[in-house]
Amino acid sequence: MEFKVRSYRFNPEVDTQAYYKEYAIQDFPGMTVLNALMKIKYELDGTLSFRRSCRSAICGSCAMKINGITKLACKTQVKPEIMKFGIVNVEPLANMPVVRDLIVDQEGFFDTIKAIKPYLLTEGENEELSGFKTLKEGEKIKQPVYSREQFKNLTGNNDTPNCILCECCYSECNGVSGNKKYLGPAALAKLYRYSEDPRDNDRDVSRLLNGSKPDGMWDCVHCQACEEFCPKGISPVKAIVRLHEKTIKNSITSTPGAKHVVSIAQSIKKTGKLDEAKVALGTAGIAGVIRDLPVVISAALKGKMPPLKLEPIKNMDDVKLAYKELGLEEK
Ligand code: FES
Repeated sequence: MEFKVRSYRFNPEVDTQAYYKEYAIQDFPGMTVLNALMKIKYELDGTLSFRRSCRSAICGSCAMKINGITKLACKTQVKPEIMKFGIVNVEPLANMPVVRDLIVDQEGFFDTIKAIKPYLLTEGENEELSGFKTLKEGEKIKQPVYSREQFKNLTGNNDTPNCILCECCYSECNGVSGNKKYLGPAALAKLYRYSEDPRDNDRDVSRLLNGSKPDGMWDCVHCQACEEFCPKGISPVKAIVRLHEKTIKNSITSTPGAKHVVSIAQSIKKTGKLDEAKVALGTAGIAGVIRDLPVVISAALKGKMPPLKLEPIKNMDDVKLAYKELGLEEK
């Protein structure tokens, strides 16, 4: 069968703007999108540029947008794409600047990974290590099995290795789309992974403190795209939710995101309802409410003011029971 590949093209040395170019090629059984791109490069157009290495969904190099969705080209079969879209449309990853054709500048992404200190911190001094802490010559601290189990579905699952840093989640992340400074799902999942590692000795919870700052974990919009588009079955969003819980348990509650969650929990605990006025006050404080006064007035004029006093729901016993089951009755 002959089919068409339509590729995004941009060479900053000669092009003033990006364009698309179509190539007609013959498929073969089991052909992947990466096979198709390599066929184009070797037989039709040697200038087409893209990253690839392992061709086995291991190295994470070949991530790109295929018919609008971020995928690994080496793991994506041509046939289903043709059946569904009639063409294989390839574009560079989103949320990163294009270097050339399908190649993006990964520096910003790897800066987010570096920012969370992706290595074990040593005892006392927070000295940076890239591997195990050596106790005596040749002796190493092994990761306990329970610890590995604890985050196996959050940074990797039973059948797959850990995150391969392919950037699929980062490309599809709506939080990054709205704020290019946001740490993003891959870095935050890694932050959670190290925060749970019993070999790590981050006594001053520096990772959680850093991850709680603006552009950190509270900027997640919970769209779950990171989980949906991860080619390795990882769920960064679940790791981020656990980070939120862990941060609040460690009393790191001075950020607007944490204040928002605590205010909601207190409102439900008291009335069984969401007291929007109190949640706004608890999250932004008086200064924040004054700052947002034009929005408040505009909402009020349209009849959208929340009630200033809420009566508790009838079956508050159920609410109390839920808080007790969650171990939150004292908070
Ligand atoms: S080439 Fe390595 S993941 Fe696709």
